[in-house]
Amino acid sequence: MSLLIKDESPEKLIGEDGKRLDGRDLNELRSIKMEVGVIPNADGSAYIEWGGNKIYAAVYGPREVHPRHDARPDRGILRTFYRMTTFSVSERKRPAPGRREKEISMVIKNAIEPVLFLELYPDSVVEVFIEVISADGGTRCACTAVAILALADAGIPMKGLITAVAAGKVDGKIIIDCSGDEDKSGEADLPCAISWYNNQIALLQFDGIMDLKEFDKSIDQILEALEKIRKLQEEALKKRYIDVRDHLKNYNPKVVTTNNIEEKIDSNNQKNQNGGDQT
Ligand code: CDP
Repeated sequence: MSLLIKDESPEKLIGEDGKRLDGRDLNELRSIKMEVGVIPNADGSAYIEWGGNKIYAAVYGPREVHPRHDARPDRGILRTFYRMTTFSVSERKRPAPGRREKEISMVIKNAIEPVLFLELYPDSVVEVFIEVISADGGTRCACTAVAILALADAGIPMKGLITAVAAGKVDGKIIIDCSGDEDKSGEADLPCAISWYNNQIALLQFDGIMDLKEFDKSIDQILEALEKIRKLQEEALKKRYIDVRDHLKNYNPKVVTTNNIEEKIDSNNQKNQNGGDQT
């Protein structure tokens, strides 16, 4: 007797009440939580929970490039590694990176690279490791959103944030932010990312069938959703900034807050010398 439970696809994805299987309206996002600065060993990091997706991103660099022949003398290079853990999906995923992971690593890199000032880091590499702990549809969008936060946390200068979300079509209706079931059983999937500094599309992929009217409606819903997600990204970054600032205040109470900084340094040196004389 097999103990395996097959991954069954539901027949209808929108109920009689017009709601989706998880109770959402057609244009409603799943719940999204983001946290920046979650991995002490990395130069920058972030975590996102987006519906059933749980994803970490960790940044290392800028650092020396290996192999050396990959280095560019005029600019730094960006490497992105999208990986799904074996237990991230219902059917055990093979640990070796497959074609899908390589493709998603590439689209995330292509979306993010143009906003980074990599010309500041010749002969160096910035690496972003993205680990999907739990996957439930739209991971490339969630990964793009969390990767840019980890890069900001690492202090990599950038022109602006990147935000991504997917629209889709299920039971003949346009929906925003497809879940895993909607992604697998739906009629179309349209992941899209925006680069905010120039309002340009940073990623646009399409899989399935929809007409031009539906496509336009999808883009409208995507733009509306992207604004909401960007706010969450900004809040997560601000929280990290405030936490670091408060930590530094406690760590070093002698923060200089005067305009006349030379005077302050002289007076501190004087105090230190006097203190030294007494001991
Ligand atoms: O995750 P995203 O929508 O960006 O990419 P996809 O290739 O369209 O995959 C959609 C979903 O299929 C993923 O989010 C996973 O939930 C699921 N999946 C899976 O169950 N097993 C895999 N080996 C790969 C993906």
